[in-house]
Amino acid sequence: MASTLSVAVAAGDGIGPEIMAATLDLFQAAGVHERVAFRPVEMGAAVFAKGNSRGITDEAIRVVEDCGVLFKGPMETPKGGGGKSINVTARKLWNTYANLRVFKSLPGVETVYSKAGLTINMAIVRENIEDTYGGVEHRLSQDTIQCKRLITAPGCDQVHRFAFHTARAMGLTRVHCGHKANIMKMTDGLFLDRFRRAAQDFPEIESADVIVDALCMNLVVRPQTYQMVVLPNLQGDIVSDLCAGLVGGLGFAPSANIGNHMAIFEAVHGTAPDIAGRGVANPTSLILSGLMMLRHLGLGREAAAIENALLATLESGARTGDFGDKASPALGTAAFTRAIIDRLGQSPRTVPAAAAGAGSPFERGPRPTGQQVIRTFKNLVTQVVGCDVYLDSPLAPVSLAEEMQRACADTPFRLTLISNRGTQVWPVGSVFTECVDYYRVRFELRDGVPAGTIGQSRALALLARIAEAFTVCSYELLRTFDGVKGYSMAQGQ
Ligand code: NAI
Repeated sequence: MASTLSVAVAAGDGIGPEIMAATLDLFQAAGVHERVAFRPVEMGAAVFAKGNSRGITDEAIRVVEDCGVLFKGPMETPKGGGGKSINVTARKLWNTYANLRVFKSLPGVETVYSKAGLTINMAIVRENIEDTYGGVEHRLSQDTIQCKRLITAPGCDQVHRFAFHTARAMGLTRVHCGHKANIMKMTDGLFLDRFRRAAQDFPEIESADVIVDALCMNLVVRPQTYQMVVLPNLQGDIVSDLCAGLVGGLGFAPSANIGNHMAIFEAVHGTAPDIAGRGVANPTSLILSGLMMLRHLGLGREAAAIENALLATLESGARTGDFGDKASPALGTAAFTRAIIDRLGQSPRTVPAAAAGAGSPFERGPRPTGQQVIRTFKNLVTQVVGCDVYLDSPLAPVSLAEEMQRACADTPFRLTLISNRGTQVWPVGSVFTECVDYYRVRFELRDGVPAGTIGQSRALALLARIAEAFTVCSYELLRTFDGVKGYSMAQGQ
């Protein structure tokens, strides 16, 4: 049969080319190449080395966008020098807003849980675009650096809806939202609120939430509690590696990055520079990621055949050097792959065989004609009620307060708060609170000045006056949205 599907392939750096070659050999033996055309593209270290600071050529971008699916090996992130991770760039460039990782106990991969007779089968959905991974960082003063954490309602909606749809397709009955909304009441609070809203459209799926620190403990103590957990980006990154540990390590955890138009499938581990070029790397994570890709493409039959051969191979005790019974000799990458190829057509005996599943080919939305602005389209009434001014200053809080009160003396604003590292230090503070050289100074409307009568320009005029004598690092407008405060209180306020 002629190829009808095409996939862009970037072999990656370090062990990437070795495990990608092994995986594609296996796919070829299983007949995948009759259905899929694999188109090589240039990404990663070699592209960075040619002076391309994005780490991907224009031609590669064109081919990936043409295919809609990228299968990639691990890629090295240049250390220092401001070079961004090509792995993160790819996920963000193509708006693959959800990262799906599936963690299953595998035969022959011994863990403390397998020894205890506990089978693990769960999925993590990690938001993939926002959070601190925006990489919006600034040095604000000599001693202070900031990373902006952005969480948006449309971004949350996309990942939560993906999680529930995927849970439904996987036949799951329960989805948890992991978060830290007890501390980050606004950002994680929004993530949790949008989860609860999305859950209403999936009444057959039980939904619950769990604070991320408790989640980590529960995952170690009672991993069978969870079927799927959806988390913000950074927390999801950490929790998904914890889950990889439950099933034997990063070498056994596949990963899919899914968006409306594009999907990226990759191994979870890195380039393993310590073993690169030696032909000993374990290809299992990339193979499992490739199986997610085949199912995404509607090739459920081929995926099941390969998965069953892999399970039968692991069951037989065949292993690469990074896992398994050290008493038996380790195979190299090629020999391990050959062992899987030799078992194509077989099924595992000790664990359930993978079913082909109906498999429906992935339908891409039409290519956008321009960049889309995604909104939740809520026309809330917003009113300016003050501003937070961030200053680089060596002054003590009391001296700073005197200066700020002078600055706002004949304006509609009054000084209401000074905080340092988020803790209130004026008008009330503790001698035990140590201050650094970066303050937040809060001004709010004076009594008698009604909200809605003052625009942003009055806040900017105050800012300009302060900037005559102080280094203003940044400022945030304080607004209400339909009368609800759009800003947090300081610790101790
Ligand atoms: P790593 O995952 O490459 O290696 C950690 C340890 O696991 C090493 O001892 C390595 O030998 C071993 N290991 C990893 N994969 C293996 C495999 N398939 N078979 C056998 N052993 C394996 O993590 P590290 O050293 O922190 O990162 C190396 C590079 O990889 C860095 O430049 C990093 O930025 C990049 N990286 C890329 C990722 C991606 O492309 N998605 C993900 C993580 C790291």
